[in-house]
Amino acid sequence: MATDETDNQFATKAVHSGTKHIEGAVNTPIFQSSTYELTEERYAGWAAGAQHTLLYSRLSSVNSDAATEKICAMECAEDGLLFASGMAAISTTLLGLLSHGDHCVSAPDVYGGTYGLMTDELPRFGIEVTFADMTDPSSYEAAIQDNTKILYIETLSNPTLKVADIPAFADIASRHNLLLIIDNTFTTPWATQPIAMGCDLVIHSTTKYLGGHSDIIGGAVVGSAELIATLFPKKVHFGGCPDPHACYLLERGMRTLHARMPIHVDNSLELAKRLEQHPMISSVNHPMLEGNNQYEIAQKIMPRGTGMLAFTVDGGDDAALKFIRSLEIVFEATSLGGVESLVECPFNTSHIFVPQEVRIAAGINPGFVRMSVGIEDIEDLWNDLSQALATI
Ligand SMILES: Cc1ncc(COP(=O)(O)O)c(C=O)c1O
Repeated sequence: MATDETDNQFATKAVHSGTKHIEGAVNTPIFQSSTYELTEERYAGWAAGAQHTLLYSRLSSVNSDAATEKICAMECAEDGLLFASGMAAISTTLLGLLSHGDHCVSAPDVYGGTYGLMTDELPRFGIEVTFADMTDPSSYEAAIQDNTKILYIETLSNPTLKVADIPAFADIASRHNLLLIIDNTFTTPWATQPIAMGCDLVIHSTTKYLGGHSDIIGGAVVGSAELIATLFPKKVHFGGCPDPHACYLLERGMRTLHARMPIHVDNSLELAKRLEQHPMISSVNHPMLEGNNQYEIAQKIMPRGTGMLAFTVDGGDDAALKFIRSLEIVFEATSLGGVESLVECPFNTSHIFVPQEVRIAAGINPGFVRMSVGIEDIEDLWNDLSQALATI
């Protein structure tokens, strides 16, 4: 889909926002420096809280400022922070905003690392988490307690690609005076802008689509200036800052987000439609398929679609493994959002520690495959999937 004026000039922001034309450079130069000269102005910035003062690269750097400004422009956020990884962004946000005795509502099918943080780490600090159903906002409301502070959702769940009805969650959060935090990694601001739908903070693993080339690990949190100012000292204390070079690569990757995403989503929907007809495929998870039970919600939340795809191969996990190991173009690897197609089976990767009965209850049946559809030629991708399915 072409970008247009309804995007709030998304493409122009992607290309230009944040870029620092230092010494007339077209691109932000890489400032590979851990520290900066202490001038009068910087001493004053330090005294004032330092969030936007170049002092020391754990706090901020020229390259993190540039990439932060671009994400904020894309997400229509007032301010933001970059981190060394998506998990650093998530853990700093939750540990920074929740204290002993507080409670958070989330879902069991959030990203596995987030689930681990919520089940293994937060309780050690006296923070309680209740898991509800991300496809049923009323289940979140039913889980709210007197000490609840945060509702935590993901735009699209991993790996079954269930869509969160963001405005319905925002309504619940605002009626109960809670913070609504969303991980928007799977859809990106090109497809979904959660702040406009009522979210307070938006989190990204920038490792994925924003970076877009499977060459960095990074994370981001964006939202109101007030909330970001609250989180800034937490980032400084926990220390999960990004390296300037990774920020540079992130900024460069984001400049083509709007050009890459239409190919990801077109390829993914086309493969979903063809796989639906394939005799070796028992089911396809893709929210933009008309037969999907969340099609209507997906049209509201992410009408441009997704580059993610999941399907179940007949013959169980052994057949799925044979299939993915026969692929010649599509690469067997975890992660997502890069220009190349990647495929994995959740049972031996992201959900390896989840008991099989829990996986099945979540819709991850034997033979389940998750694919991050890249921007290769669609016929090459289809031929590759077809020849690999023929080997089962
Ligand atoms: C939705 C989602 N959020 C967060 C993360 C964690 O990001 P990172 O690997 O950059 O720490 C991932 C990683 O796969 C993810 O898929």
